[in-house]
Amino acid sequence: MKSTKHLLFALFLFASFAFSQSSQVAKNRITINTDQGVHKISKHIYGHFAEHLGRCIYGGIWVGPYSPIPNTRGIRNDVVEALKEIDIPNLRWPGGCFADTYHWKDGIGPAGSRPSIVNVHWGGVTEDNSFGTHEFMDLCEQLGCEAYICGNLGSGTVQEMAEWVEYLTSDAESPMTQLRKENGREDPWKVRFWALGNENWGCGGNMTPGYYADLMRRYSTYCRNLGGNRLLKIACGPSGSDYTWTEVLMENPKNRWMMQGLALHYYTVMDGWGHKGSATQFGEWEWISTLQQTLNMEELIIRHSTIMDRYDPEKRIGLYVDEWGNWFDVEPGTEPGFLYQQNTLRDALVAAVNLNIFNNHCNRVKMANIAQTVNVLQAMILTNEEKMIRTPSYYTFRMFKVHQDATLLPLNLTCENYRFEEKQVASLSASSSLNENGIIHLSLANLDPRKSKAVKCEVRGRKITDVKGEILTAGNMNDHNDFNRGEIVVPKEFTGANIRGGILEIDIPAKSVVVLRIN
Ligand code: AHR
Repeated sequence: MKSTKHLLFALFLFASFAFSQSSQVAKNRITINTDQGVHKISKHIYGHFAEHLGRCIYGGIWVGPYSPIPNTRGIRNDVVEALKEIDIPNLRWPGGCFADTYHWKDGIGPAGSRPSIVNVHWGGVTEDNSFGTHEFMDLCEQLGCEAYICGNLGSGTVQEMAEWVEYLTSDAESPMTQLRKENGREDPWKVRFWALGNENWGCGGNMTPGYYADLMRRYSTYCRNLGGNRLLKIACGPSGSDYTWTEVLMENPKNRWMMQGLALHYYTVMDGWGHKGSATQFGEWEWISTLQQTLNMEELIIRHSTIMDRYDPEKRIGLYVDEWGNWFDVEPGTEPGFLYQQNTLRDALVAAVNLNIFNNHCNRVKMANIAQTVNVLQAMILTNEEKMIRTPSYYTFRMFKVHQDATLLPLNLTCENYRFEEKQVASLSASSSLNENGIIHLSLANLDPRKSKAVKCEVRGRKITDVKGEILTAGNMNDHNDFNRGEIVVPKEFTGANIRGGILEIDIPAKSVVVLRIN
């Protein structure tokens, strides 16, 4: 026993020595601290968002029960299968800006007797309300994910929101539960995540933070925990760097009492001056500019968390980044109000960078929802009638799902900068976790589109013997999956990682996302 201990200690000293020697020359170094894992990476960081916008719900998810496209009670089978494969943990619905115009009672009862409405925010199209509360809850059940419902605080009444909660979650005898039963659902559903409005500083009512805070408290009061259901109420939070909004919401103890989450919205817009640019036609300047913009997410999280820490040091209130992702110009020839954009390798990198940031801040970030699931903005899936393709962003989510509910292993990263013209960013992004089977996962992105990076990684406090991995990359920065060529940006086995002298050596190719499984 004693000699085994000595042997282990000697091995450890040797590994540390080898690392310190090799790290003198290595410009790109990572140390994973296996003894510092404290916080869990909530699986809800890998959440999604489906709004009544363009072809997200109608056509993308919902085709109706009589469609020739294979479906289960009107919901596309191919889309459900694809989303199950990435272990979708939750789905936010019905908006977005749409949520604060949505009156839920329009979307219940026999399909033929539901009123048609005009979607005023998104293209002014008429919707027949065939996808409503029951269909959304059915979708969540088919996906095996949790529902995240955004209530209408902007144009709906308190009573309307309270009744929606009652309709969904109450098991008592009441007019709302009676109505639910008449519409075919005997048992209440479980709904945990409940948003009190969306972007109420903008499309959700153009409110000041103080005015919103008062309304939020009022609506929160009447959204009750019914039967065995427990709501986790998420208040509208800031847009990007609006720190005043966070300060006002957090400083008042009564506000803090009425919410369990604060939402943050930040979209990556190509150059920070409002120019979105094409999703597919871009050069290296647009590449680095987009990545630089997306890296701002970390500063936003740190600064909003600093404010939250002052008032909520025990971190009772989560930061919910419930809208994030790339926002480019719509594809030429498509309806501007539908926000349909293609998705390239650049999107896969943006997804990886953000997911690494969320993982690394999982002590405050409890949920994140990429916008949006199908056919809108940085989508997971694109559909064209009966055809469906998975985007490069989808594959980043598939590769990163190993972090869901794992323990974050804090890491130290030192790396070269990637430069182009007047811009520069850190060339590497990384996060690491330990799952319940003792497996370590390390996710990496090399943002440099021209140079591979040689990385030396010490897994401190653990003897490693085996490494396997997957890589997502492509020949060109703007390669993407489309309906003509099919899927050309897909993960492949990664063979560029080896263990030498107890140190993990990784040769990460230019413009790539890599996830390693380390044992
Ligand atoms: O995701 C598209 C829109 O972006 C959402 O409806 C809104 O909340 C945000 O401004």
